[in-house]
Amino acid sequence: MRGRSPSRRRGPPDRILVLDFGSQTTQLIARRIRELHVYCEIAPFSMSLKEIRAFAPRGVVLSGGPASVYAEGAPACDPGVLGLGVPVLGICYGQQLMASLLGGRVVGSQQREFGRARVRVLEATGLFEGFDAGQPLDVWMSHGDRVEELPPGFSVQAGSPSTPFAAVFDPARRLAGLQFHPEVVHTPRGRELLANFVFGLCGCRPGWTMEAFIERSVRELRARIGGAEVLCGLSGGVDSAVAAALLQRAIGKQLTCIFVDNGLLRKGEAASVREVFGRHFGLELTVVDASARFLEGLAGVSDPERKRKIIGELFVRVFEQEARRHQDARFLAQGTLYPDVIESTSVRGPAATIKSHHNVGGLPEDMHLELVEPLRELFKDEVRRLGEALGLPQHIVQRQPFPGPGLGVRVVGRVTAARLAVLREADAILQEELAASGHLQQTWQAFAILLPVRSVGVMGDERTYEETLVVRAVTSQDGMTADWARLPADLLAQISGRITNEVSGVNRVLLDISSKPPATIEWE
Ligand code: XMP
Repeated sequence: MRGRSPSRRRGPPDRILVLDFGSQTTQLIARRIRELHVYCEIAPFSMSLKEIRAFAPRGVVLSGGPASVYAEGAPACDPGVLGLGVPVLGICYGQQLMASLLGGRVVGSQQREFGRARVRVLEATGLFEGFDAGQPLDVWMSHGDRVEELPPGFSVQAGSPSTPFAAVFDPARRLAGLQFHPEVVHTPRGRELLANFVFGLCGCRPGWTMEAFIERSVRELRARIGGAEVLCGLSGGVDSAVAAALLQRAIGKQLTCIFVDNGLLRKGEAASVREVFGRHFGLELTVVDASARFLEGLAGVSDPERKRKIIGELFVRVFEQEARRHQDARFLAQGTLYPDVIESTSVRGPAATIKSHHNVGGLPEDMHLELVEPLRELFKDEVRRLGEALGLPQHIVQRQPFPGPGLGVRVVGRVTAARLAVLREADAILQEELAASGHLQQTWQAFAILLPVRSVGVMGDERTYEETLVVRAVTSQDGMTADWARLPADLLAQISGRITNEVSGVNRVLLDISSKPPATIEWE
């Protein structure tokens, strides 16, 4: 960031617009720019010029995408984007589109390039300010087509024999194009290239900080909500916790949080929500102990999908019942995040996999609750930083993902109070040992599963015949794929020893060494 400190100007911060042509890495572009403390939004490539002008970006990025610019029906933005007078950066498909819209030529290349590549810097200006001409640069390529003939006004800033126009620039119009992806970690100096675009070419001031976000959100939330009452469902997860903390900062006692204890939570979880939100934050908190209802609903059920359905439906019913006590409430707060917002508006179309029981969906129409989604501009890591800035404790802010149906899908087979108690104790020991050894922070998720499989054991002089506990610990970037965490053998021995000694009902501990795919993270 070269010593630039975040500006403290009021009003909307300087912003960059990313037009999405469907690349897998579009979200990364926005995240990298926000890491530079410049606000950035993603919009579909088809956004109209009028809407773009209204957004008033200081620069536009055209993302990569899977299409070919010369194919029929290839996605194209309004060509007027290139004449807005603000700098434009085209990445991969974006570069090809820019070249073709301005009269250059793009061809399908025989030499498709995927993966690491090396190019040479030719001109150390524009995006390459601060680089050395002649220097080699490691980059990440992923393309079939390439630019073959530059439009007028452009010069080559970096290239290689296989990709002669790896980076191109028209200094008069401030239009830049990269054939490679600066947003991925495999382009080690990509961050500098993006910083040169955002600060050097676009002249943005870095005003996007969590403190600035809090200040603006509080002002906007107060203006929108006025004196009305807001309901918020707390789940124990990071998103709803941060949404509640932000609303509390904005409207204090007008916020009422409802926490449904479904009896499927981990050890101490309900108590910790009471402690943090009730006592520490002084929130108006209603804890509904519905564990008996959930256990009753789940009695005799062992099919995972039926369990999910029962838990999801009961949650909505319990929440509804509680919400009806607040007839004057006008708003319902939800912890919707930016990736959900983009998924439903992006070129890839609405996501097929919204997890319904995470969101407090399906509230009765007659309550007429308007949604408040104070985190809808934020990525997950920003939500964590926001939580820290709002003073939430680390154990909430850094919490691992936990499925909506909770231990209901980690007690494999029938869910009973006794089996839940066994799993809860064993899981608590696992969490404790992983945290103490520093391994918890290195896993994406780590938890215990109880199997309805009995085996013979021996304890003292007695034969035992008890159920089996599985330790599941995985590393992952996003939960879509995962690998099993290589925990040290001594740590595993300590975990297994403590569980079999301290938890009655388990006499055997197994380690799950499956990756996803083909396994999933959860067992049900
Ligand atoms: P799987 O087991 O499909 O899990 O590899 C991927 C991620 O999703 C979480 N998960 C759920 N979350 N409701 C949720 O809210 C569910 O029914 C559910 N099932 C799995 C899982 O913990 C992991 O983070």
